[in-house]
Amino acid sequence: MINFEALYKLSYGMYVVSSGDHKSGNAYISNTVFQVTSNPPQIATCCHKDNYTIGFIQQTKAFAVSVLHEHSSSDIFKRLGYKSGRDFKKFEGIHVKYGVSGLPIVLDDAIACFECELVQSIDLGSHMMFIGQLIHSELLEEASEPMTYAYYRDVKKAAAPKKAPTYQAYIGPMVEPDTKGPKRYQCLACDYIYDDAEHDLLFVDLPYDWECPDCGSPKSIFVEIQ
Ligand SMILES: Cc1cc2nc3c(=O)[nH]c(=O)nc-3n(C[C@H](O)[C@H](O)[C@H](O)COP(=O)(O)O)c2cc1C
Repeated sequence: MINFEALYKLSYGMYVVSSGDHKSGNAYISNTVFQVTSNPPQIATCCHKDNYTIGFIQQTKAFAVSVLHEHSSSDIFKRLGYKSGRDFKKFEGIHVKYGVSGLPIVLDDAIACFECELVQSIDLGSHMMFIGQLIHSELLEEASEPMTYAYYRDVKKAAAPKKAPTYQAYIGPMVEPDTKGPKRYQCLACDYIYDDAEHDLLFVDLPYDWECPDCGSPKSIFVEIQ
């Protein structure tokens, strides 16, 4: 038997994975970034095959990682984690610098960054696991704590979308059962608002596999709004 809640006991951080060059590039939010060896220092990450960023990683054979701090704005997750760079220019309106390798590195809410040269690609079905050798890293800010995936779920009350390797459909929205009553919830992907007052069913009572009527995102990525 698989107890899916047990999987939430695995710990992760929260990151931006980026790739490209001065002319074009893209980035997405990832919680699957981890160091896999120390000598040489190598970092692995899992990237969904539909991510727009994957083409940049495969073309440049390199990727960068920015470590997000605990007080990162919701905007960075909305912009990079629920929307695709196919639909808009993700780097417009945020701070990006170009590293020693020429890779774009997202600076907003970042406390450290890494530049990696791709050394191995492993096909995992839905995702590719990329292993990169570290060629440069920097501390950007020492005062803030890195955000963990548990903090993102438990404190920010947000959830990962379908393309995240750790997505769990059945967990449903991060809504406490005792907070019933007419409320409003917003889809983090497309901003659609589900207003309890306008529907026969309260949002919390919708089935776990209900999807956003506008963009098809899972119920689990809706957040309560005022
Ligand atoms: C908390 C969180 C964790 C995520 N983790 C991953 C991940 O590890 N790998 C991945 O491919 N996508 C992950 N995603 C989903 C991508 O960030 C998302 O699909 C993004 O829109 C892809 O952007 P792109 O198409 O512009 O590359 C995560 C999203 C969130 C919000």
